[in-house]
Amino acid sequence: MKVAHLYLLVHVFLTAGVLVNAFDPITTTVVLGIGASLGRQIYNYLHESCSPKWITFNATGLKADLERKLIGQHIASRIILRAVNGFMSNSNPKKPLVLSLHGWTGTGKNFVSQLIADSIYKEGMDSNFVHVFTSELHFPHASQLETYKSQLQQWIKGNVTNCAHSMFIFDEMDQMHPGLIDGIKPYLDYYDKLDGVSYRKAIFIFLSNAGGDSIVQKALDFWRGGRDREEIQLRDLETELSLSVFNNKKSGLWHTSLIDKNLVDFFVPFLPLEYRHVVQCAMAEMIAAERQPDQNLAEQLAKDLVYFPKADRVFSVKGCKTIGSKLDYYT
Ligand SMILES: *[C@@H]1O[C@H](CO)[C@@H](O)[C@H](O)[C@H]1NC(C)=O
Ligand SMILES: *[C@@H]1O[C@H](CO)[C@@H](O)[C@H](O)[C@H]1NC(C)=O
Repeated sequence: MKVAHLYLLVHVFLTAGVLVNAFDPITTTVVLGIGASLGRQIYNYLHESCSPKWITFNATGLKADLERKLIGQHIASRIILRAVNGFMSNSNPKKPLVLSLHGWTGTGKNFVSQLIADSIYKEGMDSNFVHVFTSELHFPHASQLETYKSQLQQWIKGNVTNCAHSMFIFDEMDQMHPGLIDGIKPYLDYYDKLDGVSYRKAIFIFLSNAGGDSIVQKALDFWRGGRDREEIQLRDLETELSLSVFNNKKSGLWHTSLIDKNLVDFFVPFLPLEYRHVVQCAMAEMIAAERQPDQNLAEQLAKDLVYFPKADRVFSVKGCKTIGSKLDYYT
């Protein structure tokens, strides 16, 4: 509606410009000038720009989303809220925010990245200032490491130059070549400026399965001990996480170098999901798809998934990952 109005206005202005043109060059210039400035305003109105109109952190929104939409992740939820709140309310951060999210597939790592993007960018994940890199997709050939590395550095530099509040998400971080990670390290550090560019307002999010097994083990210990999952604290997992991550040859390299220099601000563990969480996921998916939530159907979907350990069937192997697509079969 608003957009239509604006188009109409431009049309009127341009028509006026053409009519006046025949008579008076000075008026024409003025009218066209107004038209051009209006055009610019319309452009800014319709096109995302690096301005508070498009980039404003909504703390209430993030809190509500984490509480309502992120299922079964009490630790992650708390850390994310504190980390992002603290960073976004600091007008002069000393370094970019670097989050490392760990856990098995389907536990909500991608989803949380999306919630963070939604809380900062009006366009959420569709924002031009949010960049997602997947090693398999963007950097598939180890032999091209040097090319990828300089390209990635150019991208980060170019995008942060355009907009300080840029967000970079690296999926499958454990599959990323260590050399590539070395390439981005300088941007994560405490530099005032690097080649004249400040990276201190940017956000970097790393997603990986690294440490996932030891998080599962801890959750299983609690379950076997008859303890409430909500009792699991970050400190219960911190040592596990760093130990397993350090000892794991595959993921050790990138972690060691990032941890040694304290470049990662927060390690965020994602717990494996139980049957009841999967049911909740299914209900949430129905609501998101604007369907009537159906408890029976949700339970049916959750029952169809595979759980482990085999004897006890406690945790969903794929978390909530396939729930959305499964739901499509029941339309
Ligand atoms: C922030 O998020 C809350 C909850 O989602 C929403 O009601 C509110 O309109 C948002 N505020 C802005 C400025 O977008
Ligand atoms: C920003 O990053 C994207 C990749 O997400 C890249 O295609 C683009 O060229 C970069 N922009 C600049 C100005 O470097």
